[in-house]
Amino acid sequence: MATAIIGTGNIGGTLARHLVRGGEPVVLAAKDEAHATALAQELGDLARAASVEDAIAEADAVVFAVWLDTTKELIATDAQLLENKVVVDPSNPLGFDASGQMIRTLPEGQSAGSVVATLLPGGAHYVKAFGTLAADTLASAANREPRAVLFYATDDDTAATTIERLIQAAGFEPLKAGGVADAGRIEMPGGDLHQAGLNGALLDRDEAHAAVAAET
Ligand SMILES: NC(=O)c1ccc[n+]([C@@H]2O[C@H](COP(=O)([O-])OP(=O)(O)OC[C@H]3O[C@@H](n4cnc5c(N)ncnc54)[C@H](OP(=O)(O)O)[C@@H]3O)[C@@H](O)[C@H]2O)c1
Repeated sequence: MATAIIGTGNIGGTLARHLVRGGEPVVLAAKDEAHATALAQELGDLARAASVEDAIAEADAVVFAVWLDTTKELIATDAQLLENKVVVDPSNPLGFDASGQMIRTLPEGQSAGSVVATLLPGGAHYVKAFGTLAADTLASAANREPRAVLFYATDDDTAATTIERLIQAAGFEPLKAGGVADAGRIEMPGGDLHQAGLNGALLDRDEAHAAVAAET
C-alpha cells in the first residue's frame, strides 16, 4: 500500500520526492488539490493525488506534513479513517500570530507529539518523525555516505517498523530517540536532538547514538 502525504509544501513535497526516488508509492493531498496533482504529475507512476479522505483511506501510513493546528483539525475530522494506520507526525509546536510571526503554540515543556498522540483513535500507530531537520536540509542530505540520521519517537512497534522502512527509503539512517514522552527532544524549539538544537549539525549513526544517550 501507499504512504499518504497530507500537505505538499516544504516537508511534504520533499518527502514525496525522496520516497518516490526510494521506490515507495505515495498518494498526495493538499488543501488545494491542484498542488497535489501538480506534484504527482512531476513524480510519475509511483505518485498520485487524492482528497485528504481518499488518501488516508488508501494508505497504510499517513504523514501529516501540515502545521500542528491543521493536524489537530484533520485528525478530528478523519479520526475513524486513521484506525489501524501508522500516523507519522513531523509537526513542531509552532504556528503564526495575526501578524504572520511564527510563535510557539503550546506551553513550554509540552511537545506537539504528546498532543497529537492523544488525539488519535486507539488503533492508530503513532510516530513522531520527518520533522527533525529543516526542510532545505531534508531536501539536500538524502543518500549521503555515511547516511545522516533521522530520529524518530514512538511507543509502538508497528509504527517503528514502518518508519524505519520509510526513513531508509528516503535516504537516511533511522534511529529511535525514545518514546512519545521523548518527542520534545526531536522537536523545535528546544529539542536537543532537533537539527536546531544541534547547531545545524547532521549526525551519523555513532554520533546520533551518543547524542541520544547524553544527559539532557
Ligand atoms: N519547514 C520546515 O523546515 C519544517 C521542519 C521541520 C518540521 N516542520 C513541520 O512540518 C509541518 C509542515 O511544514 P511545511 O513547512 O512543510 O508547511 P508548508 O510548506 O506551509 O505546507 C503546508 C501544506 O499543508 C497543506 N494544508 C494546509 N491545510 C490543509 C488542509 N486542511 N488539508 C490538507 N492539506 C492542508 C498545504 O496545502 P496547499 O499546498 O494547498 O496550501 C501545504 O501543502 C509543520 O507542522 C512544521 O512545523 C517544518
